[in-house]
Amino acid sequence: MMLHHPTPSNFQWIRDRIAQVPRVKIAITPTPLEEAPNLSKALGGPRIFIKRDDLTGVALGGNKLRNLEFRLARTMAESPDTVIVGLDLQSNSARQTVGACNKLGLRTILVLEGRRPDVVQGNLLMDYLLGAEVHFAETRDEQRRLLDTLAEQCRSAGGRPHILNDNPMFDVASALAYIETTLEILDGLDAAETRPTALYMSSSGKGQAGIVLARRLTNAGFQMQGITATDEFHVPSRTAAIANETAATLGLDIVIAEEEIHNDDRFVGAGYGIPSDEAIEATRLFARTEGVILDPIYTGKAAAGMIRHIREGRYTKDDVLVFVHTGGNPAVFSWNQLWLPEANQGA
Ligand SMILES: Cc1ncc(COP(=O)(O)O)c(C=O)c1O
Repeated sequence: MMLHHPTPSNFQWIRDRIAQVPRVKIAITPTPLEEAPNLSKALGGPRIFIKRDDLTGVALGGNKLRNLEFRLARTMAESPDTVIVGLDLQSNSARQTVGACNKLGLRTILVLEGRRPDVVQGNLLMDYLLGAEVHFAETRDEQRRLLDTLAEQCRSAGGRPHILNDNPMFDVASALAYIETTLEILDGLDAAETRPTALYMSSSGKGQAGIVLARRLTNAGFQMQGITATDEFHVPSRTAAIANETAATLGLDIVIAEEEIHNDDRFVGAGYGIPSDEAIEATRLFARTEGVILDPIYTGKAAAGMIRHIREGRYTKDDVLVFVHTGGNPAVFSWNQLWLPEANQGA
């Protein structure tokens, strides 16, 4: 049965536009799209599919590997031998950057904001395993100074450093990547002879901008529902701005208005990086129904949002939701106490 929405072949022109942007191959794509019938049954709700962008392959996977394909292509054009990048202490992006740089034969120096904890776990542990040289900075200002100092030291020693924070591609690279993810999702659902009612994703605006653009370009008609894990940004305006910058990069005459962006900011909890009860419950539920590991910082909060919307009665059994799993599961090890039986009373 052919559905009345654009078939995969219609998407080729979008893929061709993206193919004009320089890129290096890093991620394993397309990622699987799997149905989650046990989760759906446990919630008594709509059909749910999970887009497994936690399975992008390098250094435990995640959404940033898709982004790094574009960003590091720009980096490689400068022929560096060392990438220097400043990020958060337990950054998923940092882990994936080190893994990607290893594949490209580049050395990585990380300047992470925060102090080295007594017990090294999660993403930070992976940064060491992957061989990054890791420095710590207590403030953003100190981090910036250290990036420049380390670059200077590298140059004086005859190296060719590239400070990734100065690469202007970060936002657009994520959006380009998530246009493609959306096409993969539509292809996958087309093969399953269905189409999405809504996509859910942990979002501070970058990947979501790509999904919103893809929605417009394909006329697919689903709702893109972002759930933010941070108070740092006003996500709707940021998402619209990134979508419009990305449209311009692709030479598309499209304007996305802030009013078109749906991003629920009720699931941040006590703050960025701090697990919430609902995220913990959601993380347990995905693990116990489908064997899918989320995390209590990003994807668990997004799943908590989707679960709350289902419980509020937004969807019927005929609806089809896609949960975009953006990775981040090393955080379950940093928060190991949450999963022990004694922490699980009444759950
Ligand atoms: C696991 C995970 N999900 C979602 C996000 C947010 O993605 P974006 O920056 O594309 O909005 C991040 C960003 O750091 C992340 O690590």
